[in-house]
Amino acid sequence: MDPSLGIDGPADIWIRDGIVESVCRAGSQLHGAGGEVQLLDATGMVVVPGLVDMHVHLREPGQEYKETIRTGTMAAAAGGVTALACMPNTEPPLDHGAVAEFVLRKAKEEGHVRVYPVGAVTKGLKGEALSEIGELKASGAVALSDDGKPVANALIMRRAMEYALGFGLPVISHCEEPTLAGQGAMNEGEVSLELGLRGMPAVAEEVMVARDLLLAEWTGCPLHIAHVSTAGSVRLIREAKARGVRVTAEATPHHLILTQDAVRQWDPDTKVSPPLRGRQDVEALQEGLRDGTIDVIATDHAPHARVDKEVEYELAAFGISGLETLVGLTLMLVERGVMDLTEWVRKLSSNPCKILGVRGGSLAPGSPADVTVVDPNRSWKVDPASFHSKGKNTPFKGWTLKGQVIHTLVAGRTVYSARS
Ligand code: DOR
Ligand code: ZN
Repeated sequence: MDPSLGIDGPADIWIRDGIVESVCRAGSQLHGAGGEVQLLDATGMVVVPGLVDMHVHLREPGQEYKETIRTGTMAAAAGGVTALACMPNTEPPLDHGAVAEFVLRKAKEEGHVRVYPVGAVTKGLKGEALSEIGELKASGAVALSDDGKPVANALIMRRAMEYALGFGLPVISHCEEPTLAGQGAMNEGEVSLELGLRGMPAVAEEVMVARDLLLAEWTGCPLHIAHVSTAGSVRLIREAKARGVRVTAEATPHHLILTQDAVRQWDPDTKVSPPLRGRQDVEALQEGLRDGTIDVIATDHAPHARVDKEVEYELAAFGISGLETLVGLTLMLVERGVMDLTEWVRKLSSNPCKILGVRGGSLAPGSPADVTVVDPNRSWKVDPASFHSKGKNTPFKGWTLKGQVIHTLVAGRTVYSARS
């Protein structure tokens, strides 16, 4: 299945030296193939361009107890993800070239999938002074973001967009107006009131979505809104797209599936930023996926250690370990009719590549042979203990999901195969 080639049906994919050589009718070339062909039988499977997760926290350098480049990329491979963009909230933050180079070197030595570093917008993610944007670009950064934190100062964001435009990098915005969000632990609404937890209102996100859309329009810089979570944000982005603003947006599987009601379980694994919202927000996000307002599904894979999560709800760290449930959860949305498989491939593969300006998202001849093979009918139970990620923090533990990653290939090499 490859929308970029208009292919939806049985086919053979020929790979040589890590590159797709051709995609042709099943069985058509087998005789002429010579002796050294390795065959990977994918009968009955869905075979797609490798999935690309443009929002991942790998935690290295500095927080290797939560995740490393090795374990995070292993989790990616197991999740069918052949390339990922990693966020700069490491220690030290990825705010200058040397850290980007470190991440790329480590990924080359120990990584299982392709890694694209995202550079910080501001030094130390402090929101005060711009990071070394030119140096970051030269060292391989594909985008800029202070993700995890908003860029509160509008002038800094304006200047960041002006520089980013000049350097040809998109800005990825974590939209959260800090004075409105306060010290909330969940969405502000009837559930927070009932549970006695401090809330973060939807408008805290929407105020900053509106600001950044206007700044993107003003500067002409390509803007990508991370983890959209509210109906109001979807509406603002839809309107801005209609006006021609250069904006793209992503939603996470958890925001597309869970509501704030999940917090009633008092499970800290439901604590995430932005928080799980109301039913209408979830429906608006799904509608945004359908009408193209939401371009991408990304996990915001945020692995945490037990010590960070097994505390009172208000003290627990924000984040969900998402790489290894990506396929199962998003295929559930396909099964429910929220999108079809063609759109699934676009949202999880070709669109993120376009936004980041990286190769991939297609099996056209000459493309890197990054391929994900999924059995759409195999059901499995989410057991965090079996995750490759160090982060076992998922609110989906115990769920039965249909759709399992069977093989993941990067540059023609199998980096993951499921046990049968
Ligand atoms: O839940 C979250 N966790 N949201 C963020 O924005 C940051 C992330 C993290 O780094 O743990
Ligand atoms: Zn994030």
